[in-house]
Amino acid sequence: MPRPKISIMGAGNVGATTAHWIASKEIGDVVLLDVIEGMPQGKGLDLLEAAPVEGFDVDIKGTNNYEDTKNSDIIVITSGVPRKPGMSRDDLISINTKIVKEVTQNAVKYSPNSIIIVVTNPLDAMVFVASKVSNFPKHRVLGMAGILDSTRFRTFIAKELDVSVEDVDAIVLGGHGDSMVPLPRYSTVNGIPITELMPHDKINLLVERTRKGGEEIVNLLKTGSAFYAPGAAVAEMVEAILKDKKRILPCAAYCNSEYNVNGYFVGVPIKLGKKGVEKVIELKLTDEEKAAFQKSVEHVKSLVEATEKFL
Ligand code: APR
Repeated sequence: MPRPKISIMGAGNVGATTAHWIASKEIGDVVLLDVIEGMPQGKGLDLLEAAPVEGFDVDIKGTNNYEDTKNSDIIVITSGVPRKPGMSRDDLISINTKIVKEVTQNAVKYSPNSIIIVVTNPLDAMVFVASKVSNFPKHRVLGMAGILDSTRFRTFIAKELDVSVEDVDAIVLGGHGDSMVPLPRYSTVNGIPITELMPHDKINLLVERTRKGGEEIVNLLKTGSAFYAPGAAVAEMVEAILKDKKRILPCAAYCNSEYNVNGYFVGVPIKLGKKGVEKVIELKLTDEEKAAFQKSVEHVKSLVEATEKFL
């Protein structure tokens, strides 16, 4: 049986790190594509040469040519520019809309049956762009954000309570920006809601740190944005799809009526399996959570509108 094929558009920090996680978990063959000549080939070969030490039997190839991505099962789009200190994700909209449009057009020509996972920011708007340009069924286009936001929240919860990260789960809804909505009521330590384990003001501090989690890394790095945790999050999505695991994960998915969102991609819990987004899971929200979610969705709508003049 041929191994699944994953093509990663953009071989920069997030793209290359995603390739690393995918290879080390032996999920499938990887193609790394970039506009920069030599760079994806160099990173691809370097990673391949780690295989005997790590013992992963997958092929890894770097390229500047879309033909090499032919018949991919999954296309991951990381191409674009990352933010620098002082920039919000939204500041990237004009340049990244054009890049995501071009990359999607080329990628879908060679892989018309693939599932697209978008990582480029501003995330929720870039998923919309990839969906519009590819014209794929909506369940085959989604974005990586919720797993990253929730893994940050989980990290902070585990540190605060001094418990294993293995036991901590969390859900973050909404757009991938400062208005995201971490949900403490649905965030648990081995089934125990964190609202039972921590005072309210402590939870609020962790929620705020989660909302600003990307900015915290940008300010430390100064030259770009996060890549280890984003790469790991993408690999988790790719594995869920290719192994038809039917994981329940927060991702940017198309909502048609769910959560009263009509026609936008926003962060919601979904069932992720071989068909892509197999179901959007609707949680019961309090009035306060609903209001915060609605505010986040309004922000996503304004970003989507802003992409239109570059499409
Ligand atoms: N086609 C292919 N690759 C492109 C194109 C294009 N048209 N334009 C840019 N790229 C490549 C760049 O050459 C670069 O190697 O995309 C890569 C982006 O890598 P980085 O600059 O290292 O950025 P990274 O940190 O990986 O972030 C990429 O993901 O998390 C988001 O906000 C982040 O939007 C950003 C994206």
